[in-house]
Amino acid sequence: MSFLTVHRVPYWALLVALPLVASAQSAPARKLDFGQQEFQSRCASCHGRDGKGNGPIADLLRQSPPDLTQLSKQNGGIFPISRVYDSIVGDSVQAHGSRDMPVWGQLYRLRAGEHYVDTYYDPEAYVRVRVLALVEYLSRLQVSAKP
Ligand code: HEC
Repeated sequence: MSFLTVHRVPYWALLVALPLVASAQSAPARKLDFGQQEFQSRCASCHGRDGKGNGPIADLLRQSPPDLTQLSKQNGGIFPISRVYDSIVGDSVQAHGSRDMPVWGQLYRLRAGEHYVDTYYDPEAYVRVRVLALVEYLSRLQVSAKP
């Protein structure tokens, strides 16, 4: 009985259904770009949606935010992973106090505390996952290093 039912489905229905299945599968992958989401919600105000340093509040800062798409190009074609990581975490420059760039390491550490409350957790691991997602996203924004 079910065999007959299957045969009654016209072949064009498959042509219609296949692309729908394919797009349903690829949609969640796009939604889960954590680095991109985080960048757009926390960094774009200064660095711009495209990372080029022209965000809406960039003019209010003492120091203009750098163009984050040029990091590899300015570093001989190599994306400076640890420098970028350290600038985002910000621990090493905290003491200077003159930084216009927020100290994200501290902020994420506070957020981890609010998120886990009584559960055991490793605050450094929480910070690392978030910062690495941003570093990875920035690595994808790089313009070609060739002149
Ligand atoms: C309030 C404005 C502001 C926000 C928001 C901001 N930045 Fe920055 N950022 C700056 C400024 C200004 C600098 C220039 C250097 C400094 O002040 O430390 C900078 C520097 C940087 C650098 C160093 C670039 C280099 O040459 O090493 C990186 C990487 C960076 N920002 C990434 C981010 C990321 C990722 C976020 C979001 C989590 C973010 N920024 C949010 C203002 C901002």
